Amino acid sequence: MSAIVIAINAAISVSAYLMTVRMIPRFRDMFVKARLYGKDLCKRDQPQVPESYGVLIGCVFLVSLFLFIPIPFTFDEAAAMDVETGGKPATFPHDKFVELIAALLSICCMIFLGFADDVLDLRWRHKLLLPTIATLPLLMVYYVNYNSTTIILPHFARAFFGKSVNIGIFYYVYMGMLAVFCTNAINILAGINGLEVGQSLIIAASILVFNITELCLGHQIESHKFSIYFVLPFLATSLALWKFNKYPSKVFVGDTFCYFAGMTFAVVGILGHFSKTLLLFFLPQIINFLYSTPQLFHFVPCPRHRLPKYDAKTDLLHISTTDFHPKELGTLGRVMVTVFRTLRLISWQEKSDGRVITNNFTLINFVLVVFGPVHERVVTQMLMGVQVMCTLVAFVIRYPLANYFYET
Ligand code: UD1
Ligand code: MG
Repeated sequence: MSAIVIAINAAISVSAYLMTVRMIPRFRDMFVKARLYGKDLCKRDQPQVPESYGVLIGCVFLVSLFLFIPIPFTFDEAAAMDVETGGKPATFPHDKFVELIAALLSICCMIFLGFADDVLDLRWRHKLLLPTIATLPLLMVYYVNYNSTTIILPHFARAFFGKSVNIGIFYYVYMGMLAVFCTNAINILAGINGLEVGQSLIIAASILVFNITELCLGHQIESHKFSIYFVLPFLATSLALWKFNKYPSKVFVGDTFCYFAGMTFAVVGILGHFSKTLLLFFLPQIINFLYSTPQLFHFVPCPRHRLPKYDAKTDLLHISTTDFHPKELGTLGRVMVTVFRTLRLISWQEKSDGRVITNNFTLINFVLVVFGPVHERVVTQMLMGVQVMCTLVAFVIRYPLANYFYET
């Protein structure tokens, strides 16, 4: 029966892809008319590109899943219709139903808040608050259905703390923070054509491969089926968006898409009980976040845009820079830049007046520090290559290494 449910989900996803591919170009004028557009900063004439397309594909995703809601409960043996109870299911799995509804509510809420961010251009502190609020329905359903806040420890820690530790409320804090991280981490690894969607597609594909592997191994079947129900329509709609967002972008995704993608990943990670594995698929985003911390927390000046600088003569991207006088920085800021400089993670150019020019601390700029000026399309390809390599590393950590550390 499970195979039928997944096959129907796949069929809905294919239809969603075909529909989205037709819809995207038709909506372009409508977005521009509503003043939803941004300048493509890495092009010679900086054309106006319709922005916030995340809202459109988010809607198609939601409609696809709304249509799908009855399917698992129609074909699920536990929910089969019982003639004696007047056609009502004898043992309707209310817990599974509420899980699906709450997951959709959280994603829907995130799309709405992301769109508000695109339209109102919110401040950074709001960007942290929005995903926290959107996860509340999810955390509530986790509390009602599982409330399992125990973590299994690896071998080497068991001598001190035992086999497992119940971390109680901190588990909920961790899950809330996971949603904040997933949404914002995609949003700050952005600014060149196709990167937001490209990285999300690779993460989603990695999750799908992981879910299928676990299904084949017979581990936590229900959780991984649940994840697949969300990941397939996500992949389909994002693939359609990628067709128009890849270099040269005909549409921009907006913060709506970054939030939508991040929340979808957080939802499947939390309710599918594989949040640690999910974080492994976010390795490039974690690296980008750690590298960005001096600027994100304003220890080092952070311009509004940190995307690379375009050179119209050569059509190549160069590093974008920030400049400061070392004396302007606080102690922590100075320690951070000294560590980065010593490890050769940043470019460093001292001016005669003592001011320093360095690249903005993003993974995109780091790639440019290492490889020099590169074409926009190639930078995106390089970063997607890094994402794929990190997925392979994630699988090595998840299977051979984790089995070694956790198996009893
Ligand atoms: C985040 C980044 C910011 C980066 C921006 C690019 C942090 C703290 N913030 O800000 O450094 O510059 O994303 O998305 O790291 N754009 C392009 N080409 C693209 C995609 C976007 O030129 O392929 C430009 C367009 O002008 C577009 C704008 O970026 O309008 C979107 O920026 P926005 O998503 O509002 O920036 P933030 O998410 O706030
Ligand atoms: Mg953004």
